[in-house]
Amino acid sequence: MDRRFYVTSPIYYVNDVPHIGHAYSTIICDVLARGARLRGAKTYFLTGTDEHGQKIEQAAEARGDKPLAFANRISAEFKALWDYFGISYDRFLRTTDADHIQGVQKAFEKMFANGDIYKGEFEGNYCVSCETFWTSTQLLEGGVCPDCGKPTSVLKEENYFFRLSKYQDRLLEWYESGEDVILPRSRKNEVVRFVREGLDDLSITRTNFEWGIKLPESVNDARHVIYVWLDALMNYATALGWGTDERLMEFWPASVHVIGKDILRFHAIYWPAFLMSLDLPLPKCVAAHGWWTKDGAKMSKSKGNVISPKEVADSYGYEQFCYFLLRDVPFGQDGDYAQKAFIDRINSDLANDLGNLLSRLLGMGKKYFHNIIKTDQLRLFEEERRETDAIIAQLDALFDTLQFHRYLEELFKIFSIANKLINDFKPWDKIKKNEFAAVGEMLVFVGNILAKGALLLAPVMPKKSEQIALAIGISIDIKTRERLIEKGEWDTSYDLSDSPVLFARVEKPAVIENEAPLAAKIDNRISIDDFLKTEIVVGTIVDVQEVQKSDSLFVLQIDLGEAQPRQIVSGIRKFYDRRSLIGLQVCVAGNLKSVNIMGIKSDGMILAATDGSGLRLITPEGSMANGARVR
Ligand code: MSP
Repeated sequence: MDRRFYVTSPIYYVNDVPHIGHAYSTIICDVLARGARLRGAKTYFLTGTDEHGQKIEQAAEARGDKPLAFANRISAEFKALWDYFGISYDRFLRTTDADHIQGVQKAFEKMFANGDIYKGEFEGNYCVSCETFWTSTQLLEGGVCPDCGKPTSVLKEENYFFRLSKYQDRLLEWYESGEDVILPRSRKNEVVRFVREGLDDLSITRTNFEWGIKLPESVNDARHVIYVWLDALMNYATALGWGTDERLMEFWPASVHVIGKDILRFHAIYWPAFLMSLDLPLPKCVAAHGWWTKDGAKMSKSKGNVISPKEVADSYGYEQFCYFLLRDVPFGQDGDYAQKAFIDRINSDLANDLGNLLSRLLGMGKKYFHNIIKTDQLRLFEEERRETDAIIAQLDALFDTLQFHRYLEELFKIFSIANKLINDFKPWDKIKKNEFAAVGEMLVFVGNILAKGALLLAPVMPKKSEQIALAIGISIDIKTRERLIEKGEWDTSYDLSDSPVLFARVEKPAVIENEAPLAAKIDNRISIDDFLKTEIVVGTIVDVQEVQKSDSLFVLQIDLGEAQPRQIVSGIRKFYDRRSLIGLQVCVAGNLKSVNIMGIKSDGMILAATDGSGLRLITPEGSMANGARVR
């Protein structure tokens, strides 16, 4: 690992609220930054928001807001969420920050002065949503954008151009300069192919809207604003003070730019070309992760299928969430978010394998040794120690190439070694035979496994690792890591303390899953007759009781205009106060077969909408007779 480590997340557009996809990018950076710090590297972690451009201008306008006021609000939401999660960023940059604006203008000025920017006429098909021009051959049928599928518009204007074509050969050389310039390695071919086909010069100013950084005064052309991708990419340099106060430039170049695969082209082609023009060293690695999807569709606000990271973290634990995101899907591949897979990971890997191991150690340590476990020397379990050393020896390389799923898979093998050893060694039998020394040595071995495990897990689960460390009397710090991981030492004693349960098992889903919106599903259309099979009727809630032993269920009595009110069990308790529901009119699927929910009969379903940020009951817009049919 280099002595300095500079990691960046993408800066997020402020037209969207944070969802799992954004959290994923940020969490990966946080894990990398924490890992680097624990290995002694001087680290700088940058994140922030991307606030200029036509897309933001339009989003603000649609809400009757000024762009800056709108950006202030959404940017604060991103920042608040990262703070809530304890993301260890060093700077949260906004592209509306004064030093950034100054740096971008400086970059433009420098590229202009060295002849890389010239003025020309441009005509192309522009997608506002992606802030990208496409050639006619790239457009899909109907002239829609090949990336997002939205309509494009023909834009003809006088623009300033960046001589991207000039950098084609140097870019190709850069891709070949190291194995890990673009990660995962499979993505490199895609970029190389694109560049080999030839690069057009890039239009880097706009005149058809105003919300952007003005050209530098020296260029003296007030009609133009700078293209949002030049503005945004430059954040990686301006954050370190490039063009203003360059003290932090000691971190340059970036060790890794973490991005999603949809923005690889900007980072692997435009960005290095801009840097070449500015005569700045190129990043060591651009790492592109895959997408989180819900029911097969990319998560995004416009599709209405976003999962709220806060809601998930609040329900299951933030660090459990981080573990799941990194463990379940190989870096670079897409992953479909499924609550069941998440719960399985919590119960099997975290509660069973790791949590249980800690409680076994603490239980036996207390019962047999009054919490002080020690041995003169480690003689037994040589094979297990060798196996553990071999697993640990490969972990840094997996971490550094962002193969977190493999990293965690391998790491958890050392917990399995320890659990298996306890099962095979049967310490409870040995104690009966007074073999205290052997059992003590076994517990010291387990203590070592947990110490090494906690140090290696700390970048992903810092608080849980601290909890383990506290329970076994070690510290998570550079020195301890050096000793137990780098040098591979094994300690001969541990001073144990009581600890709360590390991971609670999850018995049932805590979050009501979002359904993917109709538009996001491939082809699920049904006939009107099929639709009308469901009898949706209006009813008034006349009574609401809480279901014992459940924190999400209510049992409701609903007057549907029938002789007796209907009894319906519904998972809306987290979203509504009991009393506020009485008297409310709702819509009910009335002809469903009865089901038993936690032993209570339920005769129908109350209709509600969910969007990742909450749940709302569907109610008629004005008062209706109970039993009125909804069509
Ligand atoms: N503003 C640009 C980035 C400029 S960086 C100089 C941008 N912003 S974004 O808000 O649209 O996306 C930010 C990041 O979130 C991207 O890396 C993108 O890939 C990631 N994700 C957005 N939706 C995602 C998923 N559904 N899944 C995983 N990540 C995705 O692009």
